Amino acid sequence: MTAGADAAARVLRGRTVSFRDDPRVVGPDQAMQSHEDGAVVVSQQGRILWHGAFTDLPREHAEAPCERYGREVILPGLIDAHVHFPQHRMLAAPAHDLLEWLERFAFPEEARYAAEDHAAAAAERFLDKLVSHGTTSALVFSSVHGMAADCLFRAAQRRGLCLMTGATMMDRNAPDAVTQDAEASARESAELIASWHEVERLRYALTVRFAVTSSEEQLRLAGELLADHPGCLLHTHLSESAAEIEAVQRLFPWSKDYTDVYERFGLVGESSVFAHGIHLSERECQALHDADSMVVHSPTSNTFLGSGLFDIEHVGAARRPVRVGIATDIGGGTSYSLLQTLAEAYKIARLKGCSFNAFDGFYLATLGNARGLRLDGEIGTLDAGRWADVVVLDPQATPVLAARQELSESLEDMLFALMMLGDDRAVRAVYVRGERVAGRDLGEG
Ligand code: GUN
Ligand code: ZN
Repeated sequence: MTAGADAAARVLRGRTVSFRDDPRVVGPDQAMQSHEDGAVVVSQQGRILWHGAFTDLPREHAEAPCERYGREVILPGLIDAHVHFPQHRMLAAPAHDLLEWLERFAFPEEARYAAEDHAAAAAERFLDKLVSHGTTSALVFSSVHGMAADCLFRAAQRRGLCLMTGATMMDRNAPDAVTQDAEASARESAELIASWHEVERLRYALTVRFAVTSSEEQLRLAGELLADHPGCLLHTHLSESAAEIEAVQRLFPWSKDYTDVYERFGLVGESSVFAHGIHLSERECQALHDADSMVVHSPTSNTFLGSGLFDIEHVGAARRPVRVGIATDIGGGTSYSLLQTLAEAYKIARLKGCSFNAFDGFYLATLGNARGLRLDGEIGTLDAGRWADVVVLDPQATPVLAARQELSESLEDMLFALMMLGDDRAVRAVYVRGERVAGRDLGEG
């Protein structure tokens, strides 16, 4: 038995699935690692010590307590690459389009986060929702109030979660209750970076809502902050709806296109994460590829708000691939479940004539998102050394799934049914840093 800090706390035994690379690029055989009777050894420090076939379990771990999951699927914890904390209860609010939805629902709801007791209670409820859906890490929009981001960081820290967020920068084209002048928002962002960036598993994301709600001065200050703090992420929206793109053209008449606005202020780089990217031109894709930025597909939001159909083959085209991630985009999105999100991504791919299989989906929700968020050394696989953030999914969780799985003839088909028909009911167990925090017998925590 290994002594001291690296001692095994437990062994998780079941069908393991983890990725080494992108199946769309290297093919599923090269990309995926799966063991029908697999094991993940978790250390007392909450890291993965070993992963492989149970029959090859190193003898030094043989005495560790074993949690048996039979034919259930053990995956790296799911990662949500774009989700809005202050919209956590505001799902299913119908509107004609994105801009009307923001005015009528999102801005008034976000204004409530000026009150600390509201923000603090909401942070706990929001994080409960993430983990009960198998999501163990997320890049999160907060509200314009620095205090609300502070509440969320504090709640995530208490739970040992890997989470990235930041106060939202907005200084125009929105109600006073959710805007702040450019200088003040930059000052508040800088203070939050000093308080929270790289504290334990937390990182700061400079958060510009979108070009429509920022003046040139605010974008310039955000660019300066990013240059001064290159380890931070830049998190914003890009090219989501037709009316939004027209507004950007009106507000920045000198710009070549929407992406050019962010480029002009130094906001397009390898740590930049752009939600949506539905209507990107070839020039914009080339610029995002050159910068190694990530575009985050948010399928349930895009269909719900009628924003458009993301073209994964256009954005990821081999001649100049743009990194693609996947996200719920709650509350424009309609489900906290990344399984439901992948199901919608599949349907959108079909409508666009694109391929999208289960391996593509589970890769995006694990290693793909981890890479785009620059966290693949920490999370996103079951490899030794990564944090033991793990989700166990039951492929037969509901009567409908159980019946469908009677027909499944391969791992891919089993995972496909799980992604199309699964949701939080399929979440059997969730581990954060090796500790069980949610799952069927634990309630919502
Ligand atoms: N663009 C700017 N703000 C938002 C938002 O809150 N949700 C979505 N889906 N798009 C946005
Ligand atoms: Zn969003």
